[in-house]
Amino acid sequence: MAPTTLVKSPRKLAKVPNLLRYEEGIGPEFFSRAREELDGLPGGRGLNIAHEAVDRHAAGPRAGQLALRCLRKNGKVHEFTYAELALETNRFANALSSLGVGKGDLVGILAGRIPELYVAALGTLKNRSVFSPLFSAFGPEPIHTRLTLGKAKALVTTELLYIRKVAPLRDRLPDLEHVILIGEDGAETNTEGTHDYRRLLADADDAYEIGPTDPGDVALVHFTSGTTGRPKGAVHVHEAIVWHHVTGKLALDLHPDDVFWCTADPGWVTGTSYGIISPLSNGATVIADEAEFDARRWYAILAEQGVSVWYTAPTAIRMLMKAGTELARAHEYPALRFLASVGEPLHPAGVLWGVEAFGLPFHDTWWQTETGGIMIANLAAMDIKPGSMGRPMPGIEAAIVHTREDGGVDLVTEPLEEGDLALRPGWPSMFRAYLGEPERYEKAFAGGWYITGDLARRDEDGYFWFVGRADDVIKSSGHLIGPFEVESVLLEHPAVAHAGVIGKPDPVAGEIVKAFVALKPGFEPSHELEKEILAHARVRLGAVVAPKEIEFTDAVPATRSGKIMRRLLKARELGLPEGDVSTLETAE
Ligand code: PRX
Repeated sequence: MAPTTLVKSPRKLAKVPNLLRYEEGIGPEFFSRAREELDGLPGGRGLNIAHEAVDRHAAGPRAGQLALRCLRKNGKVHEFTYAELALETNRFANALSSLGVGKGDLVGILAGRIPELYVAALGTLKNRSVFSPLFSAFGPEPIHTRLTLGKAKALVTTELLYIRKVAPLRDRLPDLEHVILIGEDGAETNTEGTHDYRRLLADADDAYEIGPTDPGDVALVHFTSGTTGRPKGAVHVHEAIVWHHVTGKLALDLHPDDVFWCTADPGWVTGTSYGIISPLSNGATVIADEAEFDARRWYAILAEQGVSVWYTAPTAIRMLMKAGTELARAHEYPALRFLASVGEPLHPAGVLWGVEAFGLPFHDTWWQTETGGIMIANLAAMDIKPGSMGRPMPGIEAAIVHTREDGGVDLVTEPLEEGDLALRPGWPSMFRAYLGEPERYEKAFAGGWYITGDLARRDEDGYFWFVGRADDVIKSSGHLIGPFEVESVLLEHPAVAHAGVIGKPDPVAGEIVKAFVALKPGFEPSHELEKEILAHARVRLGAVVAPKEIEFTDAVPATRSGKIMRRLLKARELGLPEGDVSTLETAE
């Protein structure tokens, strides 16, 4: 267990924290108070995320304030004020509806961090269609699986990504009626069977009235991974905006004139909830960088863009630490006043390195795709315990429980006892379903609690400490990867008889994907074959999901019912005791 030294949250008093005392926010009336911060659609026509994030500000004193500044790889900068973003997203909403894509239809968006992605996401929400992001580094297989599960009616992507990853699948996507292509550097596209983004928007009206939106209408589907089976589509509704707004305000301490940079890609939930929706709803200026991680570039962005609130991830923090604090010191960061982290365990050294490099600690926050927004955090109003995820957000009831065979739970009351991290359902950004899988959804609950799948401890001060996952999902560079999805693709290779995939601890990425592979008769392990299987996986899955390492083995351990015993593979990898292997039967 990490030391419990408290790090005082240094407050640059230019800003008074939105929540001064942690205890202030606690109470059942918290959600309704939070709702009052928002507008609602004019004429009492409901609650729509895009209205709160964009139109509300475009119609008020912040109309001329910068909403979004996109830094392109080629050095260009694209900017939108709130008023401009309102018009551009109106055009996109009109374009979608002119194609017959309407309320409840799923729109997949597969693109890097380019301006069109932000416009398309918000325009989709205005049109009351369902925004489902796809990570641009996915290979064709994960893209196909997600578009199929979501029955996507439309896809917005770049010409390049389409040609490389989607066109070869198009005849296997019967629900996909429309593909909207973004040309390289804003150029028009002319690919058969697609629409051109630029032409569609040029022809579209810039006035759009958002139709009635019930807070319970589906807004977003975020795919996430479990240990077994297909990816799960976590369904979120427009009411989630209440939580996006309030957590941005309280956990990230966002103020209207903040310049906010969330380094997560909008292909994942963090990049949507906090890379788009929450900061806009809070009236901040969003910085988006198209380029990949580069320590020098990142420091220059923090300094030159005047970033005041920065939300990043432990892998990035570790890479910056590795690059050396001197690089950080090459700049000054007078605007920077709040640092936060999410997605994986943040080690105490990472929290403290923030102080060394920027004079500010990192505030760890914890949440999941399913929770839609931050649940546990080291709030601005709290002292930080380095290594702890923090305390539950106001309004959130979190507990450590033991789940029983009969479906009930026993609450753990003893401080520091390990158990399942559980949350009392009912917050606004709570997922409402796993798309088309009611049983899987039901299984996520026990005894009136949502069981998160994480193991944790709570200390005597109410701070939560992450222990590990209760299942076999892998967290690599902050990305959640399902071993089953990887194993399935490995098994497609003609030489592979059995495959078992685990997360192997890695000092920078947290974990890397490692595969154990048993070959079919007639195939011998070799360096060439290893390279061939790795390449096969990379082409099909994309570099982020594919294994980094393969180990040939005579047999992959499995239970008698055929379940791969990944825990055993992991124990072997780590040289740990193998535990109970009574049901072991190896797949050879
Ligand atoms: O295991 C926890 C880990 O990431 C999981 C959620 O991943 P995902 O659904 O992809 O959501 C990403 C957006 C947050 C959690 O179940 N995790 C997240 N935050 C932390 C964390 N593990 C340790 N410490 C955290 N702060």
